[in-house]
Amino acid sequence: MNKTTIRLDKYIASVTDYSRNEVKRLLKNDHVRVNGIPASNPAAHINQQEDTVAVYEQVIDAPQARYFMLNKPRETVCATEDSEHTTVLDLIDEPNLHKLHIAGRLDKDTTGLVLITDDGQWSHQVTSPRSECFKRYRVYLAQDITDDAITALKQGVQLHNEKKLTLPAHIDKIDNTTILISIQEGKYHQVKRMLAAVGNHVEHLHREAVGKIELDKELELGQYRELHHHEAALFLP
Ligand code: URA
Repeated sequence: MNKTTIRLDKYIASVTDYSRNEVKRLLKNDHVRVNGIPASNPAAHINQQEDTVAVYEQVIDAPQARYFMLNKPRETVCATEDSEHTTVLDLIDEPNLHKLHIAGRLDKDTTGLVLITDDGQWSHQVTSPRSECFKRYRVYLAQDITDDAITALKQGVQLHNEKKLTLPAHIDKIDNTTILISIQEGKYHQVKRMLAAVGNHVEHLHREAVGKIELDKELELGQYRELHHHEAALFLP
């Protein structure tokens, strides 16, 4: 059988809460239809993309993967559970929260764009170094940024306890104490450590974009929305 087909009993069990034995009973007792025609053979193959399967006259569908963006406030942690702090998942009001995970974490005091999904392949695409996905941060600095510091950040700087220089960053100077920095790596506290390496100090960090996904300006801190199809598609195979 080719890859787009699947055994009927397996398909029903995978997209519903029925066990394989319950599914067999449903089939035997004529409660299943494929394209409107009664189906009783558990070993029959169906095409998930083309065939319509109904149980008790209700069409069943594979659950769709879910993708969200959240504007993370300060003092929330990018963890799925934390006994002390509010987690980003505490801010999401959706069913089956336990199935969701975070695609690329931010520090507790960093604000801005966090992507949340139940699609493991998708989050791997977002976070894998192979994807070379640039993340853009707005950085509020304690001291004026110097031209030398900008040159060094663009070329790569040596972080404490790291073997290699950071990969080249894109920098846009907004004013003397605000820059936009885009980096493709995601080392621990990377932006803060990069600015420390050039003798400055990050007062506040806000993530504005992950690849081509821009934080929606309509979202207040703590608010979230589903990704539009064209946004999620950016990291689909
Ligand atoms: N770099 C940091 O230092 N902190 C973050 O939260 C993200 C990038």
